[in-house]
Amino acid sequence: MPDLGEKAGVMERFDIEGGRKLWGSVRLKGAKNTVLPLIAASLLTDEETVIRDCPDIVDVSTMLKIVRALGSAAYRDGDDIVTRGRITNFEIPKELACEMRSSVFLLGTMLSVLGRAETTFPGGCAIGARPVDIHMHGLGALGAKVEYIGDTIRLTSDGLKGADIKLSFPSVGATENVMMAATLARGETTIINAAREPEIVDLANMLNMMGAKISGAGTSVIKIIGVDALRGIKYTPMPDRIVAGTLIAATVACGGRVEITNCPESFSDYLSAIIKSDTCNICSKYGITTVESYGILPGLGTIETGPYPMFPTDMQAQICALAACSDGETTVIENVFENRYAHLYELEKLGAKISIYGNMAKITGKGFLVGGDMMAHDLRGGAGLLIAAMAAAGKSTLSNVRVIDRGYENIEKMFSALGAKITRTIIIP
Ligand code: UD1
Repeated sequence: MPDLGEKAGVMERFDIEGGRKLWGSVRLKGAKNTVLPLIAASLLTDEETVIRDCPDIVDVSTMLKIVRALGSAAYRDGDDIVTRGRITNFEIPKELACEMRSSVFLLGTMLSVLGRAETTFPGGCAIGARPVDIHMHGLGALGAKVEYIGDTIRLTSDGLKGADIKLSFPSVGATENVMMAATLARGETTIINAAREPEIVDLANMLNMMGAKISGAGTSVIKIIGVDALRGIKYTPMPDRIVAGTLIAATVACGGRVEITNCPESFSDYLSAIIKSDTCNICSKYGITTVESYGILPGLGTIETGPYPMFPTDMQAQICALAACSDGETTVIENVFENRYAHLYELEKLGAKISIYGNMAKITGKGFLVGGDMMAHDLRGGAGLLIAAMAAAGKSTLSNVRVIDRGYENIEKMFSALGAKITRTIIIP
């Protein structure tokens, strides 16, 4: 089942003329995976909060719709997201909860502010079942009563209390949910086996600026001392490391020279160590990453996804696309989501030789791809397929591209400004 993309009946497709090198400069905006929890965190105060430099992407728009449905003012002012006023409604509307699974991140805040939160079970999706048991275990440990009524999750509490909480897996969303709920809880909370992603550090930084007392973010033990109230602030989120990685993979695959400004250097350096070859150069200085690519990349060896600091699952599809363009063998092992290989079946249509054994994929690149017709099944998979289509000789089409808009602001404009040839067609049946 493809991830949510097309609205009933309306199809959007990219037509891509591949084989063009990429040249130019791109400035990154705030990361989707930090902006979404930051919006949830902003609701922990009634005061006005401004989150700057936010990408104009579908997931952020959906989040704003949900926040408004909960009773707060929430709007975009240029690149700023502004929230203001107390949430009053304890129910996330069903259609919006289904549109964005990250809506589950709001439950900790809602419980903290309202003492009650209800949402439709977010259900499965194109990349895996995505259960919420770790979220519920964490919120339950803080004193919430968790009930499953049909497809609804109901959480109630008459005051959250700090606790020691051991997560069975370092879930990013569950760590964020518990951090937000514990911020205004009575007493001290310790999250053990917490996720260590940079996005967790960004959330802790914003909450601390609002008046929270959180330490240890970025390590696997996070301590939160509950406070009585938080205040509104203005906050600039970290830039999007996955958009950075997508640009790096695309430039290496297509050839050319691209400068990425406002770029998280540590992530560029991390990718540079993986994509190490005489055929390209990825170097970072003063927040600018420069990618140069002069020839065909050899295979990339073995890449295994996992919780931070392992290779991010959100870059797996883009690296698979790069591997398909290479001349050599790459083995990819996906350890985070159980069903995140739909893009590989599409990549085969461009001539890539791929074998899948459970969560392991062997990609044997022949040094070139040839254009073909593909479908995007999920956000990052779609971005990976676009990279492959841009690098392939000749014309390609990519359908269901609304899924890519969930996490990339105008991806075709971004790449077209660098010299790619991509047009979007809206097909109304
Ligand atoms: C976040 C990111 C997503 C990224 C993922 C992993 C956001 C908005 N999304 O998603 O882009 O791919 O981290 O880096 O930040 N799990 C359970 N039970 C739970 C929660 C998670 O079994 O209660 C499982 C999931 O099914 C998955 C794994 O744990 O297999 C990782 O999920 P998690 O870290 O929670 O991802 P998200 O926070 O949903």
